[in-house]
Amino acid sequence: MYTPPVYMPFAPWIRRVGHSPVAVPLLDHSGEDPRLDLEGIERALADGARAVVLCHPHNPTGVVHGDDELRALADLAARHDAVVVSDEIWAPLTMPGVEFRSFLAASGTAREVGLAVSSASKAFNLAGLKCAFVVSGNPERFTGVRRSALSGAVGHLGALACEAAFVDSLDWLDDMRAALASNVDLLDRLLAEHLPRARWRRPDATFVAWLDLRGYPGLGDDPAALFLEEGRVALSPGPAFGTEGRGFARLNLACSEELLTEALTRMGRVATRTR
Ligand SMILES: Cc1ncc(COP(=O)(O)O)c(C=O)c1O
Repeated sequence: MYTPPVYMPFAPWIRRVGHSPVAVPLLDHSGEDPRLDLEGIERALADGARAVVLCHPHNPTGVVHGDDELRALADLAARHDAVVVSDEIWAPLTMPGVEFRSFLAASGTAREVGLAVSSASKAFNLAGLKCAFVVSGNPERFTGVRRSALSGAVGHLGALACEAAFVDSLDWLDDMRAALASNVDLLDRLLAEHLPRARWRRPDATFVAWLDLRGYPGLGDDPAALFLEEGRVALSPGPAFGTEGRGFARLNLACSEELLTEALTRMGRVATRTR
């Protein structure tokens, strides 16, 4: 099972490994405090779901799940003999004052039931240099999984780049995170100016903003389509993240201040025209 609105390949990937994806949407994904639906997850596990695919930090909402809910999730997984696969690729990109803790660090039970999956590709922009890694606190249970997940998928250059990123490039990462935090502030101002009826929650982590544009009904279910067609601004369509994403769009703010300003100015014009 997985927690939409979420990174769109999760459901197809679950199918690709021969299982049926079960959606248990986040509670209040557009509000101030999006949460895992622990009751829904428990029902899915009781109905036979064998694994929970977690996105932590969560793309597109930018939520870092809290220790309490992660501990509760671990207990549920243990009770139903399920595995939690925690995709933590966005973890290095926390905002100032936010502490990220791996699912595996939530509790002893989490270490028993969990696998954390990550890569340098997102934070250090190394997509294409293949090297993801899986961390487990329970080698006896997961040795086979680790081998099959990694075999054939890691490139030599990817492994070297991964080490250079996580060992030698943390100063670069800090500078980048400061730039992203400054863009979050800028986006807040630009939204107030150009799209005052848009709602959003500042991300705890990531470089994406999950924009609730339902205050502009003229933009329809897929505002990104109109922004592209009429404003030549490309966002990720909200509905691509799940049906919960109707009326939403995901904006990537890892760009220059000038580009962000131009994008929001154009989006504001489109929204005003379609009102
Ligand atoms: C949650 C999550 N997992 C995995 C990936 C894929 O990363 P990669 O570019 O290394 O394939 C992404 C990319 O956006 C993502 O958001």
